[in-house]
Amino acid sequence: MDQLTLARPDDWHLHLRDGPAMAAVAPYSARQFHRAIVMPNLRPPVTTTERALAYRQRILDALPADSGFQPLMTLYLTDNTSAGEVRRAKSSGHIHAVKLYPAGATTNSDAGVTDLAKVDDTLATMAEIGLPLLVHGEMTRADIDVFDREKAFIDHQLAPLIERHPRLKVVFEHITTRDAADFVRSSGPNLAATITPQHLLYNRNAMLVGGMHPHFYCLPVLKRESHRQALLAAATSGSPKFFLGTDSAPHTKDAKESACGCAGIFSAHAAIELYASAFEQAGALDKLEGFASHFGADFYGLPRNKEQVTLVRQDWRVPDTLPFADDQGEAPLVPFLAGETLHWKLVT
Ligand code: DOR
Ligand code: ZN
Repeated sequence: MDQLTLARPDDWHLHLRDGPAMAAVAPYSARQFHRAIVMPNLRPPVTTTERALAYRQRILDALPADSGFQPLMTLYLTDNTSAGEVRRAKSSGHIHAVKLYPAGATTNSDAGVTDLAKVDDTLATMAEIGLPLLVHGEMTRADIDVFDREKAFIDHQLAPLIERHPRLKVVFEHITTRDAADFVRSSGPNLAATITPQHLLYNRNAMLVGGMHPHFYCLPVLKRESHRQALLAAATSGSPKFFLGTDSAPHTKDAKESACGCAGIFSAHAAIELYASAFEQAGALDKLEGFASHFGADFYGLPRNKEQVTLVRQDWRVPDTLPFADDQGEAPLVPFLAGETLHWKLVT
């Protein structure tokens, strides 16, 4: 098979940043995807409906008028997010989920939730009005090993949460372990998961063997090969509980290649191509469309995309850097697999 046509995919987990940085990266997602769930971990975080709607407008203003790209907004859950705020969010029509970052879990997560009990009424309201909760599934207690944080989150936070709120729709974001894939598969239909391209294609050796490779560092961190195999099996299983979410998260080259390098992998330049490589490795290209273009929309209760995209088998080299910006001005970004040759190409 040298050509692959599928319904235009959506990205159910994306970091777009803001200002010039956002203007630099948003076109890559708009080229690939019809819609994307946009993460709220800006500084300051997107905690209110008003901020989310203003952010949505800035994204639309940064794209050509005919791009057709739809940013689906999210609210950042804090200890103080009220039931009234999530009702306002839902009735805006543009806010499709609320994101839980355990405090301290990752980039800009210090305003995150310190104790789920504090937001129990808000979660009950979300279950009632049908607004999904998206979770960064890592337990952040200092004594928990970084490679065990996802499993600890399942046991101590996620399992009790879904038992307490069985009608709440929950997306376990960017799962990285066999434990998470098994937990999602064995739970009811209100729990689903997104999977990134890096977690389908690489294990932690890519990050740590032969030197430290900061462009393979993201959170949750890459795990051992047996976990990658389990994720690939889940993604290609045809189960509607697993769908595409890139977690594409740009940081400048300097911020990544630093004594304390930031977590985040930018993959929006080649997202669907990377997923196609992973599915091809598993001999499951026929399962790509469900994962990339159908199951996420179904879970969120949105229509499937009618438009189609085509991928062709063609070698192309990923650029070494792409133009990007930080607070100081222009600064390059190193895209995922910079300098490497990919074998599928999205044609427009
Ligand atoms: O690697 C990551 N980068 N994981 C996250 O959860 C956040 C993201 C970011 O915003 O940079
Ligand atoms: Zn993320």
